Amino acid sequence: MLSTLRPAATRATLRQQAVNPQVVRLAAAASTWAHVKEGPPDAILGITEAFKKDSFKEKINLGVGAYRDDKGKPYVLPSVRTAEQKVVNSTMDKEYAGITGVPSFTKAAALLAYGPNSKPIAEDRVAITQSISGTGALRIGGAFLQRWYPGSKTIYIPTPSWANHKAVFSDSGLEVKQYKYYNKDTIGLDFDGMISDLQSFPEGSIVLLHACAHNPTGIDPTQEQWQQIARVMKDKNHYPFFDMAYQGFASGDTDKDAYAVRHFIEQGFGLVLAQSFAKNMGLYGERVGAFSIVCDSAEEKKRVDSQIKILVRPLYSNPPIHGARIASEILNDQGLNKQWLGEVKGMADRIIEMRALLKKNLEDLGSKHNWNHITDQIGMFAYTGLKPEQMDTLAKEHSVYATKDGRISVAGITTDNVKRLAEAIYKVTG
Ligand code: LMR
Repeated sequence: MLSTLRPAATRATLRQQAVNPQVVRLAAAASTWAHVKEGPPDAILGITEAFKKDSFKEKINLGVGAYRDDKGKPYVLPSVRTAEQKVVNSTMDKEYAGITGVPSFTKAAALLAYGPNSKPIAEDRVAITQSISGTGALRIGGAFLQRWYPGSKTIYIPTPSWANHKAVFSDSGLEVKQYKYYNKDTIGLDFDGMISDLQSFPEGSIVLLHACAHNPTGIDPTQEQWQQIARVMKDKNHYPFFDMAYQGFASGDTDKDAYAVRHFIEQGFGLVLAQSFAKNMGLYGERVGAFSIVCDSAEEKKRVDSQIKILVRPLYSNPPIHGARIASEILNDQGLNKQWLGEVKGMADRIIEMRALLKKNLEDLGSKHNWNHITDQIGMFAYTGLKPEQMDTLAKEHSVYATKDGRISVAGITTDNVKRLAEAIYKVTG
């Protein structure tokens, strides 16, 4: 009897719910995802969303760090086009790569970073895996350190750092702390603050270093300062985690931009390195990157390599092959390599030119501020020193979009929009 009564009772309850809004609300509140709160838009990628919504024709997007040509258009490097054609013409199969990716790519990526005369490469003690661009490399690194680093699972990142660093490392299970880097009074490097922070951290701390073209400030240590940083880190037995997302993009010279990494290696450091090919090859959406660990011996490398595979396999099994094949062609074909290096330099030079033009336009308008930092800084970004309220005004009143911290992507400046940009900045800052 009970079994026949139950459906009847359920039907009655349902009828009741249909007419009782409070019950309906409660039912809605009981949805599986009812507790999920809407989060804020991404600090960088959210800017692109806001930019797209603006219907003003002369709007300017200086948010995300993505290179544009002087017409403001995305730029596919001619060397990339040629390499891609070669890949397509070769009618290669689409089988899975191994867990650590396309070997011809990773081998060449290591050579690009560590250099042709690298001792760790000659001694076969660099464990390297392809990654889902630079972010993926950082994430593998974070997870590897969380699992295997023998010391404290804390990583120290500069203040400020790339807006995604904290999330990448804390989601990897590391505790994230910061060290001094930027001096807002000089809009330059707080070198003394950095050194004294490094000296004060517990022995054997993991320290994240931007290899070149520091994001977001565009302020890099000089070579002498890198030497001093290495000395302090050696004294304290700190462990370097290099993020090199802009090799070639800072100075136009891939060897010069790898100075810090190579110097640390020469000083005998073991280290980990995240590489991205998003910027220097313009392979943004192809997600091409590499993560490597410089080990003590070939035997150690073998063990480390096996654990990288064990870590990667349940994450995404193995990486995509197309972009890595393109990068591999460029890195391994002498002619294409030379062409690519010329194109990287071309991008770096255009950025340097836009910095000078923006500064000149601001000065021509009669701005009383000192804008030297725009040309002193290096890489894709200028850290203008503008405050969040001023950045808001730039977006709301002038349709100029960039991150709230005052960072502008110089790659989004063109000879056509620089005047309007300078006028907007002048109106906001005086
Ligand atoms: C940036 O800082 O704008 C770039 O590295 C792109 C990104 O993913 O944030």
